[in-house]
Amino acid sequence: MAADISNIDKNKLPSHIAVIMDGNGRWAKMHGKPRVFGHKNGVKSVREVSEAAAELGIKYLTLYAFSTENWSRPAIEIAALMGLLVETIRKEVSTLNENNIKLISIGDISKLPAKSYKALLEGIEKTKNNTGLTLILALNYSSRWEITNTVKKLAHEVKEGRIDPEDINEHLISANLNTATIPDPELLIRTSGEQRISNYLLWQIAYSELYFTNVYWPDFRKTHFYEAIINFQNRERRFGKISEQLSKG
Ligand code: FPP
Repeated sequence: MAADISNIDKNKLPSHIAVIMDGNGRWAKMHGKPRVFGHKNGVKSVREVSEAAAELGIKYLTLYAFSTENWSRPAIEIAALMGLLVETIRKEVSTLNENNIKLISIGDISKLPAKSYKALLEGIEKTKNNTGLTLILALNYSSRWEITNTVKKLAHEVKEGRIDPEDINEHLISANLNTATIPDPELLIRTSGEQRISNYLLWQIAYSELYFTNVYWPDFRKTHFYEAIINFQNRERRFGKISEQLSKG
């Protein structure tokens, strides 16, 4: 039976959901088409999930759109992905505004092709006053890159005497990551049957619930998203405590 929005407890929503959109290539192969066909259809799922998250009142949605490792893919595929990014942002900016969605990004976006970089910055600028869902695109992102940068930044601060090594704690590290202004995701979804994290938000998912589905990303619809949230809501999150301690509040 398809998961229905009425089965979601609006008082127990995760405030941040992170997604690894996987399976575009296999989906395309299954349909006898080139990989790019899968990515194009993946954009429909991006739209569906963003709309579902906004409608539910989820505050943050992070999508892994391009990893630092993805540069090793065939040039034609990279070009197609970067082109899709430009096309999608330009096309969807008015819908983002209609739905009060603010676009931001994490990752080293300065290394994106100039056209993609420009479209992204325009999208960010045009949606900056929206107050509903924050849609975070992870672009040229990897967690080890992010953590390495943070360590470097803090090392410089120590060297210049602005902080003492003893000041370094979990809060300071979190506050110096790309995700400084974003709460940690409570739920991480990966599609396509793969059960890996792939260098995604390693620090931030310390206590996240992980949800894996066999559905390929281009087939992922609102109902699959609801299913993941309902599954999340039926779990007990203990943060290292025991059940009895949680029921005492
Ligand atoms: C993984 O599938 C998907 C990606 C690396 C890219 C995701 C990009 C999109 C959905 C389209 C563009 C996004 C935006 C936000 C405009 P895969 O190619 O690794 O699939 P496979 O494992 O089956 O080969």
